[in-house]
Amino acid sequence: MSSTSQCRVCGGTVNEFFDFGRQPLSDAFLEPDVDLDGEFFFRLATGLCADCTMVQLMEEVPRDRMFHEAYPYHSSGSAYMRSHFEGLAKRLLTTELTGDDPFVVEVGCNDGVMLRTLAESGVRHLGVEPSGGVADVAAAKGIRVRKSFFEESTAREIRAADGPADVIYAANTLCHIPYIGSILTGVRALLAPTGVFVFEDPYLGDIVERASFDQIYDEHFFFFTARSVQQMAQRHDLELVDVERLPVHGGEVRYTLAIAGARTPTPAVADLLAEERARGLADRATLDGFGERVLRIRDDLTALLRRLRAEGKRVVGYGATAKSATVTNFCGIGPDLVSTVVDTTPAKQNRLTPGAHIPVVDAAAFADPYPDYALLFAWNHADEIQAKEQGFRAAGGRWIRYVPEVRID
Ligand code: SAM
Ligand code: TMP
Ligand code: ZN
Repeated sequence: MSSTSQCRVCGGTVNEFFDFGRQPLSDAFLEPDVDLDGEFFFRLATGLCADCTMVQLMEEVPRDRMFHEAYPYHSSGSAYMRSHFEGLAKRLLTTELTGDDPFVVEVGCNDGVMLRTLAESGVRHLGVEPSGGVADVAAAKGIRVRKSFFEESTAREIRAADGPADVIYAANTLCHIPYIGSILTGVRALLAPTGVFVFEDPYLGDIVERASFDQIYDEHFFFFTARSVQQMAQRHDLELVDVERLPVHGGEVRYTLAIAGARTPTPAVADLLAEERARGLADRATLDGFGERVLRIRDDLTALLRRLRAEGKRVVGYGATAKSATVTNFCGIGPDLVSTVVDTTPAKQNRLTPGAHIPVVDAAAFADPYPDYALLFAWNHADEIQAKEQGFRAAGGRWIRYVPEVRID
């Protein structure tokens, strides 16, 4: 059954193209003794706006259910991501932040992984972060944090208190926010005349190319393209002036918006728009093709895991990622197929994965003893993880990957 909804960007009609069915909150790791009957579920489905081409979820989860005191995702958990954000901060210092007393606002600063470098450089800054636990971690690093959701009213208050922002930055956060119109109105109000709004999020082009359907879960409400972002910006007197493809988190794009007319767009914008047109990224047929590949991956992965169970092999998951909630719940993978999931995040350990209820254990237990197979849920951190787990392969263990197709490494 397919349905329609109203576009959260332009008010147009969103036509559903894929239904993942009943899904839990991807970061709601359960204590084993809580009443599992009380677990929150919603219908996870994706649609394409017939007017502005924005791909988005058909149903929205209330924000307080996802982002709260106990939000478990700590950005600094990956060494690679720490250096990614440090690199961006250093680049901003030499490009956008060279004026007199520049001011930076980060939306969704989490544990301060990016702002730390700017704070240490003495740059005037403010992180806006509603999830209290991670905000406290950032504050303990000497970062100035405001514990609240960023939206239009917050932006106006910041402008009144601190003046205009030279850079507003958001990583893996803007795509989480269904009330995006309020964000962009706020950005427009807070931005200095020559300032920029820089944000980076998973790119629909990479998701379609890699069939990385596990990028789709409650927190990821929008799946941006240069085209949909360009149109969205125009509605708010903003302009897309640069795009940069990033290798992180399975493929992202860093978009730069400026006040309309303030900057000349780089050639990269026209190039990416042309590439998206050539690939038919806004065409329903392309997205239907993506859906067919997702069904094939589901069938191949469940067949493989059932075969391994029949052979008496032990399979564990590696990385209790938010993404893995979609994989386990859509494919019907429970503790009978994957006995445990290992993860370095203390807030996830000794809990059960959402929906599928697979126990999460400390990653230190991975080698104790090694399983026969490890299903790499944190595939976006594959290089980092496989480099530190070389002993697993040496002991005869094998990695299972599932995007862009199911394979054993
Ligand atoms: N920027 C970090 C990174 O890239 O690793 C954190 C990304 S995390 C997936 C998303 C963050 O956005 C969470 O810390 C969440 O609390 C925050 N968030 C969600 N809605 C927000 C809003 N309206 N304003 C500011 N932060 C928000
Ligand atoms: P992410 O894909 O949203 O960044 O989440 C990655 C998850 O994987 C997070 O829970 C931390 C975990 N992880 C490990 O357990 N070991 C590692 O080496 C890395 C990089 C991540
Ligand atoms: Zn629209």
